[in-house]
Amino acid sequence: MIADNYKIIKVRNNGTQHGIDKIEQVFSLFPKEDIFLESSRKGLVIYLHQLNFTDFEKNFKTLSDTSDKRISELLNSILNNIKKIKSYGLKGNKRLYVGYNKERKVKGRKEKEKERGIYYYTKGNNFSKKNNEVPKQFINKIIPGNSEEVLKELPDNCIDLIFTSPPYNFGLSYDNHKDGTNWEEYFDKLFSILKESIRVLKYAGRIIVNVQPLFSDYIPIHHIISDFFMKQKLIWKGEIIWDKHNWNCKYTAWGSWKSPSSPYLKYTWEFLEVFCKGDLKKPGLKENIDISDEEFKKYVIGKWDVAPARNMKEYGHPAMFPESLVERVLKLFSYKEDVILDPFNGVGTTTAVAKRLSRKYIGVDISKEYCAKAESRLKKTVVNTTLF
Ligand SMILES: C[S@@+](CC[C@H](N)C(=O)[O-])C[C@H]1O[C@@H](n2cnc3c(N)ncnc32)[C@H](O)[C@@H]1O
Repeated sequence: MIADNYKIIKVRNNGTQHGIDKIEQVFSLFPKEDIFLESSRKGLVIYLHQLNFTDFEKNFKTLSDTSDKRISELLNSILNNIKKIKSYGLKGNKRLYVGYNKERKVKGRKEKEKERGIYYYTKGNNFSKKNNEVPKQFINKIIPGNSEEVLKELPDNCIDLIFTSPPYNFGLSYDNHKDGTNWEEYFDKLFSILKESIRVLKYAGRIIVNVQPLFSDYIPIHHIISDFFMKQKLIWKGEIIWDKHNWNCKYTAWGSWKSPSSPYLKYTWEFLEVFCKGDLKKPGLKENIDISDEEFKKYVIGKWDVAPARNMKEYGHPAMFPESLVERVLKLFSYKEDVILDPFNGVGTTTAVAKRLSRKYIGVDISKEYCAKAESRLKKTVVNTTLF
C-alpha cells in the first residue's frame, strides 16, 4: 500500500507545468522506493519514504540557481515541505520518514522510562522556577577575585550557562593559585564554588565542566564531580569526550611494559560533563539560535576532535582551552543574548568567545594578571555579525 510506505506531501504549482521536467529530472536521480513525484495541473504530489537529504538539497540548490523565478519558488516550496518534517529516523546517510518507530527495538519506550524512573536522583529537588536578572554592574565584566566569595554577590537563578575548567590539581604553575594540594582539600574548595555556581544558575540552565583525571593518582575527577552534581540533584545530560589527539603521554611506567602486572592506560582526551538544573529543555527565542545544520549534526555526536589551545605561550597561562571548544559548547547549549559565566576564567577564553558570539558574559579569576589579559583580549574581540 502506497499510503503505508510513503509520506504524502502535496505542493501547489499555481496551475503551471512550466519547468516540471527539470524537477522530475532531480527526482529521477533517487530510487523510486525512496522518493518519487507525480505531477498534474492541480499540483505536485511527493511520495517520500526515505532520503539522503544532503544530496537531495544539493541537487535542488544547483537547479534553483540556474532556473527562472517560478521554478525556484516551486523548488524552495518542495524543499521546505520536506525540511519541516522533523520526525524521522536515521538509517546510514538517509532520513527514514516512514516506519522508523517500528524499527525500534524497545516498544512503549515512554511508559518504560517512567517505570524505571528517569533521572530518579533529582527527586525532591527544590529548585525555584523563578529566574532573575543579573544586576547590571556584573554584565560583561571580568572580576578579579576568589569565586567562592565573588559568586555570593550574584542573585539566585540568573545565569543561563556556565562553562568552566577548574584547576585540575596537577601541580601546574599558575600565577597565584597553588595547584596540587591534598585531594580532600581540593574537592572541598571546588565543591563550595560549584555549589554557588548551581545556586546562580537559572532553572533549566546548564553547567558544563571540562576536566581531566590525574591518571597517575588514580583519581577519576570527572566521576567525582559528576557524582557531586547528581547529589545536588542536577540532571546529567551527558559527557563529551574532547579528543585532543595529543600522544604526549608516557608509554609505560617501570615494570608495566608488556606485563599484566600494572599496564598503564593512555588517554589523548579530556572530558566535558554536562548537567542541567531542573529541566533538560532550555527555552529561548528561535531568532537567537546561531548553530548551522552542519554544526548541529557534528556537535551532537559526543566525541569532539578539537586540537588543544596553541596560544598558551602568547598569554602566559599553563592550562587554557581552545576557542573552538568554547564555540561548540556555546552554540550547542546556549542562545545569543544568554548570560555565560566562567568562575575559573583564566585569560578569558570563555568570555572572549561569548562576546564574539553575541552572548553576555561574566568571568571570574583569582589572578589579577590573568584578568587583565582577559580584559585586553576582549578589547580585541570583534562581535560576529554573520548569521552562522
Ligand atoms: C584551568 S585554568 C582555566 C583556564 C581558562 N579556561 C582559559 O582558557 O584561560 C583554571 C583557572 O582557575 C583560576 N583559579 C584558581 N582558583 C580560583 C578561585 N578560587 N577563584 C577563581 N579562580 C580561581 C586559576 O588562576 C586559573 O586561571
